[in-house]
Amino acid sequence: MNVAVPVICDAVLLDETTIRRRVDELGSQIAEDFAGKDLRLITVLKGGLFFLADLCRAIDAPLEIDFLAVSPYAPGQGGVVQMTKDLSDDIGGAHVVLVEDVVDTGLTVNYVLSLLRARGPESLSVCALLDKPTRRIAEVPIDYTGFSLPDRFLVGYGLDLGGLYRNLPCIATLRDDAVLS
Ligand code: PRP
Repeated sequence: MNVAVPVICDAVLLDETTIRRRVDELGSQIAEDFAGKDLRLITVLKGGLFFLADLCRAIDAPLEIDFLAVSPYAPGQGGVVQMTKDLSDDIGGAHVVLVEDVVDTGLTVNYVLSLLRARGPESLSVCALLDKPTRRIAEVPIDYTGFSLPDRFLVGYGLDLGGLYRNLPCIATLRDDAVLS
């Protein structure tokens, strides 16, 4: 049984089937691009874990997964992000794909890429399910993009409002009054 879309949402932007199809395409592309290589998928908790879980199962190749967590940056404080949970494994010499649910300002990916780069991976790529380019502050390379979307507050498939609604199988926009309240 699926989780119902809550009343605070006004529209389903990406339904479960649409997301699954795109995730499958991204998985096939990544499997082809990294065939025979030491592939690591790394995501940033918490939002990215839903996409990572589906994406890794769409990649028909051996791979490892790992997680890190960062504190959210405070608006107006120069985009400072700090790591609050480190990776479990060394990534030296590995082909790393940083998996993100959404790239918005780009500050998180920018920080995480610099952190990962310093650890000597053989290659470093970014796979983002959602790209919201209109709010970009830090220009970051995105090698694999699921969907490019306008700047709307979204919930579901890892995206939350106050910690809730990550478990929706779809991605939905919020009613304006829900965002403001
Ligand atoms: C979200 C998302 C990205 C980040 C992107 O995480 O998972 O990590 O925001 O935003 P940016 O491009 O503006 O940096 P969030 O800080 O909401 O934490 P969460 O993953 O725990 O929801």
